[in-house]
Amino acid sequence: MISINHTNIYKINDYSVHLKNLTPEDKFSRFGHTSSDHTIDQLILNMCYSPDCHELWYAEVNDVRIGWGHMARNGDGSWEIAVSVQHEYQRQGVGNKLIVEMLEWAKFHHISEVYMHCIEDNKVIQHLALKNALATRERGYGERTAAIEVPEPTLFENNAQLFKEQAEIMAEIAELRMRLANLWLSPTHQIN
Ligand SMILES: CC(C)(COP(=O)(O)OP(=O)(O)OC[C@H]1O[C@@H](n2cnc3c(N)ncnc32)[C@H](O)[C@@H]1OP(=O)(O)O)[C@@H](O)C(=O)NCCC(=O)NCCS
Repeated sequence: MISINHTNIYKINDYSVHLKNLTPEDKFSRFGHTSSDHTIDQLILNMCYSPDCHELWYAEVNDVRIGWGHMARNGDGSWEIAVSVQHEYQRQGVGNKLIVEMLEWAKFHHISEVYMHCIEDNKVIQHLALKNALATRERGYGERTAAIEVPEPTLFENNAQLFKEQAEIMAEIAELRMRLANLWLSPTHQIN
């Protein structure tokens, strides 16, 4: 069973490992150019410098993270989305699930425009873009942009996302409570 989880900069190291372990072909499709570990480290460092401009999602099966979605905010208020799935887990619906989840988040947060860069040869991502109402257009140099003006959420979508994000915050609070309890229960902590 695949679950999709929204996360933050704390899991950035796992994201970096995932990107570095993509096959060379998948890395090329993901970034639109050949990417070394150094290029990926630069991306990760940029994310650390501006954590509020990045949102991450991961897909998990049996506690193994198999794919990631990334949204990055631009200066003009639009957000770029990117998605990648570990090669052996592709064509099982994971990429689409990540895109759906990112677009639901964008709707709830009233983001007006979301877009994605796709290389011309990447028919799979162009198919997924169209499936999710992102209109594609040529940019030249073998690239396309797929963009959507994000519609307002329906009442149902709004409530569903509200409860989802509330559950995420409750899970974070539970983790903090556990840390606090461990601190007080630590054998090195003595109250005289
Ligand atoms: C693009 C990518 C994220 C897709 O993830 P995925 O988990 O394989 O995608 P899904 O299984 O959800 O969907 C694949 C869809 O492509 C369709 N498809 C497969 N081969 C296709 C082809 N040659 N042409 C068009 N559509 C194709 C499938 O039928 C399926 O659509 P459907 O569900 O409507 O039937 C994955 O291939 C990947 O990680 N690629 C490398 C990184 C990348 O290219 N990222 C995109 C740029 S940001």
